Amino acid sequence: MLKGKSILSLMELNRSEIIKILDISAKLKEKRKRGKYPKLLKEKTLVSMFMKPSTRTRISFNEAMHELGGHCIDVTSSELQLGRGETIEDTARVISRYCDVIAARVFSHDHVIRLSSAASVPVINSLSDMYHPCQILADLLTIREKKGKFNGLKLAYVGDGNNVCNTLIIGCTQVGMHVNIACPKEYMPSQDAINFALKSTENNGGKIVFFDEPKEAVKDVDIIYTDTFISMGQEKEEEKRLKIFLPKYQVNRRLVEHAKSDFIFMHCLPAHRNQEVTDDVMDSINSVVFDQAENRLHVQKGLLCLLLLEESEIKI
Ligand code: CP
Ligand code: NVA
Repeated sequence: MLKGKSILSLMELNRSEIIKILDISAKLKEKRKRGKYPKLLKEKTLVSMFMKPSTRTRISFNEAMHELGGHCIDVTSSELQLGRGETIEDTARVISRYCDVIAARVFSHDHVIRLSSAASVPVINSLSDMYHPCQILADLLTIREKKGKFNGLKLAYVGDGNNVCNTLIIGCTQVGMHVNIACPKEYMPSQDAINFALKSTENNGGKIVFFDEPKEAVKDVDIIYTDTFISMGQEKEEEKRLKIFLPKYQVNRRLVEHAKSDFIFMHCLPAHRNQEVTDDVMDSINSVVFDQAENRLHVQKGLLCLLLLEESEIKI
């Protein structure tokens, strides 16, 4: 079903494929807790390329391949001939001859599209300016673990309508959740992501609603999610952005009081503490940010297995 697919935005996956990834990931997580590491990807190699910094993605992909009995070669673009002008297409053709799957963190989403068009192996977008699919798969696993379901759950995203927000509205509406968005008009999520999410609510239930006031968006929600106001590559816009986002879009104790008492706070990390989120929310009992970070490992294992193996070969 998923074998051989490239995952660039989450738009490639339907509800049942997302649930399949979460189910396999949850099983692998359970096994790992008991010290069992099924070597499902023995003799498989991932090339994991980075054009921007990373802590969670780089280390979790590396560890995922190691635990599954495979191998990961991770490189930054400055270590490749790509950094000296070799084309993305030629790089993709060459790397495809050496490995079974490529993960790439790029600036422009177009670069990951070009990479996957020229590659003869599946390509995973490990963050572009537009989408962050692995993050949102880990977030969905976290939500299911904490709340036990998707249908009927309300999530509010407050802040920058960025790569994480775009993918979140795609993923959450695919699994039937209700999403409230509070972003400044200058920094709304992409129209492509919104259009996809609107279609998705027709097929899967759920809703997507836009708010001017963060306070209104978080009213009675089960989940509050935010991300940095200044993504990688936007450092020069810091002053302009902070003027727009602060203080209105900060997730702080006053704001979260409007959510349900058992709400969970989510953030993909890295957090800019006391900018988009205050310490008292980030370190509160409602915060699940480190569970999200851990789930990157489990979900990438599930995803890699499904992209590289037939389902009948995944014996856990
Ligand atoms: N959330 C996330 O992708 O973190 P890194 O930038 O550290 O990989
Ligand atoms: N929106 C952030 C996410 C980092 C994981 C960025 O692109 O920098």
